[in-house]
Amino acid sequence: MSDNASKTIDTKDPDELLAPTPGLSGGVRSASKHDSGPKHVAGEAVYVDDILEPFGTLHLAPGAANIAHGRITKMDLSKVRSAPGVVCVLTADDVPGVNDVSPAHTHDDPVLPDGIVQFYGQPVFCVAAETREQARNAVKLAEIEYEELPAILSVKEALEKQQFVAPPHVMAQGDAKSALARAKHRRSGVMEIGGQDHFYLEGQITFAIPQEDGDVLLHCSTQHPSEVQHNIANVLGRPANAVTVEVRRMGGGFGGKETQASQWAALAAIVAVKTGRPAKMRLDRDDDMVMTGKRHDFIVEYDVGFDDDGRICGLDIQYAANCGFSADLSAAICDRAMFHTDNAYFLGDVEIRSYRCKTNLVSNTAFRGFGGPQGMVAIERIIDEIAMTIGRDPLDVRIANYYGTTDRNTTPYHMTVEDNVLPELTDDILASCDYRKRRKEIDAFNAESPVIKRGLSITPVKFGISFTTTFLNQAGALIHIYQDGSVHLNHGGTEMGQGLFIKVAQVVAEEFQIDLDRIKITATNTGKVPNTSATAASSGADMNGMAARDAAMTIKSRLIAFAAEKYGVVEAAVRFAPGRVIVGDVTELEFADLVKQAYLARVSLSATGYYATPKIHYDRETASGRPFYYFAYGMACSEVMIDTLTGEYKATRVDISHDVGRSLNPAIDRGQIEGGFIQGMGWLTSEELWWDDAGRLRTHAPSTYKIPACSDRPEDFRLELWSSGRNVEKTIHRSKAVGEPPLMLAISVHRAIADAIASVGDYKVIPMLNAPATPEAVLNAVANVAKGMIAQSHDAVPAAGE
Ligand code: MTE
Ligand code: MOS
Repeated sequence: MSDNASKTIDTKDPDELLAPTPGLSGGVRSASKHDSGPKHVAGEAVYVDDILEPFGTLHLAPGAANIAHGRITKMDLSKVRSAPGVVCVLTADDVPGVNDVSPAHTHDDPVLPDGIVQFYGQPVFCVAAETREQARNAVKLAEIEYEELPAILSVKEALEKQQFVAPPHVMAQGDAKSALARAKHRRSGVMEIGGQDHFYLEGQITFAIPQEDGDVLLHCSTQHPSEVQHNIANVLGRPANAVTVEVRRMGGGFGGKETQASQWAALAAIVAVKTGRPAKMRLDRDDDMVMTGKRHDFIVEYDVGFDDDGRICGLDIQYAANCGFSADLSAAICDRAMFHTDNAYFLGDVEIRSYRCKTNLVSNTAFRGFGGPQGMVAIERIIDEIAMTIGRDPLDVRIANYYGTTDRNTTPYHMTVEDNVLPELTDDILASCDYRKRRKEIDAFNAESPVIKRGLSITPVKFGISFTTTFLNQAGALIHIYQDGSVHLNHGGTEMGQGLFIKVAQVVAEEFQIDLDRIKITATNTGKVPNTSATAASSGADMNGMAARDAAMTIKSRLIAFAAEKYGVVEAAVRFAPGRVIVGDVTELEFADLVKQAYLARVSLSATGYYATPKIHYDRETASGRPFYYFAYGMACSEVMIDTLTGEYKATRVDISHDVGRSLNPAIDRGQIEGGFIQGMGWLTSEELWWDDAGRLRTHAPSTYKIPACSDRPEDFRLELWSSGRNVEKTIHRSKAVGEPPLMLAISVHRAIADAIASVGDYKVIPMLNAPATPEAVLNAVANVAKGMIAQSHDAVPAAGE
């Protein structure tokens, strides 16, 4: 039990449950399997493309620009229109309402561009035909001419030319400049961090079904049904109540469907309303990779000051992010990179600057961690450089820089860190992963092994939970109980594989003390719960779990009042136990019996629920406040092996301890941690996005874009939910968000690779390893470190850039 937690625990409080309630199947804390698990593996889970198509369904295909920037001077689509099977062809002129689907009302995301092309692959028209094949064939018949305009294809160039999608932003504490001037040691450097394609298994898709009066129902693979609803209403020039969006599940979203489902939904909706026929817009993999935004690539420049113990006393850091052609969520994403500059460390006097660069590339968007990972990768490399500079073990430098509990505990955005469990969590993982012993073994191994080198690194994660845009932190739910006692559950969160639906259902099962199989989990639908936020920022279970519990408690209190009156007892004498309700000392009823009686006595068995996250506030003008309700913590120790002749590597052993508070569902949480870690590892190692000089993405399929395969899972993978985890804040059953934080545990793999490379130079030359650390990058870094050894002077630690 963690110290900060043990004293005040009220064991009667259901939130403090340590284990599943005996006799209840599928309440909180139980490792219930994902509700769709069996259907996933049997191929029976219904995704949008599996919905039976009504007769007359049309199929859409987008027509893409083949320049990065320019004016359309001629667009002759006559051959497209007369191609076999074509029913209609859309251009910007066919958008009945507002030609924009930008999420933050920046008006820079046209459904189809009106005259100006902004990236290679941007859809400029769209074909609807009787079959998909016909639509795709017709697209090729377009005759389009352009007047090319100069294209900006890199962050570097955009920064030089001061091209931004949003104004630069600064966050500061103290006086970084004078702190740096006073510092005993000082280092500066540049790090390039690559982007990442979401590579969800199910690509972007919307199936639009026309309704009466020109209304439309959209089955859409989106993390944000309400935003799609509002955007499509605007595009159609109709009120929001004319559009209904339904999402049963996504085949993965990972942030890529937080905003970027709207464009495809808009095209399908326009066709459906225009033709009166169902219309399906499904991107194939290549189109999806070319036409939808990714994780932002970053260039980070830093100047850090530190003392003999490696303690940071001043930091000046600048982020330049590749936002692509439009703002999308870039402002908030770049803010989150700034919020996570510190990761787990007290930075002292610090100035953080962020530039949101505009390029003629696809508009980048949310991706698991939402900019946070980019900020954290940079500081972890900085810490390693500090350690090498002063000749200390990086672990000790990390610990020396951890936030304190009573002092050294304010973040660069002036929030006090109140829940820092990292010192304890670090002790726990160190006891089980044998870091110090293995460090010695690895040194000995490397000294004897000229070609194969081993590397080891242990890195922490501290990740802020809440949307940093405060108003988004709200959620709603809807529960009905039918006369037979079966429950219909709905809320604003969406299911993308992360297990949100099962967790929320477990919360409701616990509240009513009924088995999980009494609860029907239903598709997210804007007609049931309105004005929801995206399922994002890892806060799905925190918020929707609370909203659903609120709804359940409303009905429960009606049932209690009814039972108390009927049986002549005080309300406190009515108790819900597994499967039954105990009234006073003598009466015991089945849950379903009580429900039936309540119905007959005209008690409402339906309720909505609502939740707004407490305590949070943030003033962006002054860059200060308490943007996060709490932090999620974790730590990973990764060991790798590299081949210095080929640059190839593998992760041989990984130990993870991650704090999920008190887990709502340990099976789901383990899945999230493992999946997040592997996805992060892919980002930092093998996944490389590559555009040619024309701005054309050349890595647009799995043949050239390498996501981790099963064989990349570390041979020895030891994953623990941190046993002392408990949220000090009153979150749903004291759990913590788990969706994004584990991705950043993978930074340890990148750092372990750098450590193995450093061994080539006897740890005297700093490998300035960028991300991703592809085999090519590793080979270059090895060569540079070897060169650095030869050139090494005696009074300075040289750095070997790529
Ligand atoms: N896990 C799976 N299997 N599929 C996904 O698409 N998305 C991640 C994470 N885990 C994702 C996932 C992202 S980016 C977020 S923000 C959270 O899940 C969202 O869900 P939650 O808030 O319910 O954790
Ligand atoms: Mo997750 S990047 O917040 O959708």
